[in-house]
Amino acid sequence: MEKRYRVKLDPETQALALIGSKEGIGHLPLALVEPGQGVLVPSPAYPVYHSATLFAGGRPITMPLRESNAWHPDFEAISPADRDAAVLMFLNYPNNPTGATCTIELLERAVAFCRKHDILLAHDAAYNEMYYGPASPPSVLQVPGASDIAIELHSLSKTFNMTGWRIGFAVGNAAILERLAKVKANLDSSQFNAIQDAACVGLDRYDDPEIDALRKMYIARRDALCPTLRELGFRLSPPEATFYVWCGVPKGYDSFSLASKLLDEAAIVCIPGPGFGECGAGYVRFALTIEAERIAEAAKRLRALKW
Ligand SMILES: Cc1ncc(COP(=O)(O)O)c(C=O)c1O
Repeated sequence: MEKRYRVKLDPETQALALIGSKEGIGHLPLALVEPGQGVLVPSPAYPVYHSATLFAGGRPITMPLRESNAWHPDFEAISPADRDAAVLMFLNYPNNPTGATCTIELLERAVAFCRKHDILLAHDAAYNEMYYGPASPPSVLQVPGASDIAIELHSLSKTFNMTGWRIGFAVGNAAILERLAKVKANLDSSQFNAIQDAACVGLDRYDDPEIDALRKMYIARRDALCPTLRELGFRLSPPEATFYVWCGVPKGYDSFSLASKLLDEAAIVCIPGPGFGECGAGYVRFALTIEAERIAEAAKRLRALKW
């Protein structure tokens, strides 16, 4: 299998540097959404899609992601009223918080749905390089014609451990990016050029063995935690991408009572699922952002708890 796909873009009009992908997500509804207009927002999801929509005066419309549907949205279940009201849809694969990935077919269906109903699409691909299978996850821009209606947001925070540098980028539809650039020209004037230059050095080295080493490090961390969680009755599929472990809570707990128990009795932090939207109820998210030894220690403490 070809490990990497290539898409062709005009760098003058189809690429825009961001002060982290979060900044692009935060400003996008200001650029595209009039007060009162609808924005399709997955739930559970990275919370910024929802808050950015509210800051722009837009109306978030929940698109539930369900375990029974591999944490993918059901576009057919969106009501005619909601799809008429929506002017923008956010999607995010590999997904925070669920760790789910998607196939190109899902992105094709998203593009077809948005095109049919005159909705702009923003695909957040912040975790595209944090994958643990043989091939990198698909880009929405692989879908023929996607650039007519879609942009994709990328981050250097995860792939290059550059979170504090605040650098990301958006690619795709030129008209959307022009509107986003107009907001940015009035609010932040973009990131310091030296940081943009450093990002270019990273982007030229996507195939560097160090990035593979980073992926292996997260696999080791994942494998230090997931078997213990399963043994204890947490419901989960080990993530195929991202550095999150998303799991259904064991019998007798809800998201909050479980998160409190782990914090109070084992000094372990996990995030209650409803923090990512209403459809996160009954789940918690662990982050694999500490060393494998500390995660192994957390697993030991989990096994020692009275359940
Ligand atoms: C899904 C998702 N998108 C975007 C971001 C923001 O990343 P950045 O550091 O590029 O702003 C995050 C960070 O946690 C994220 O989880």
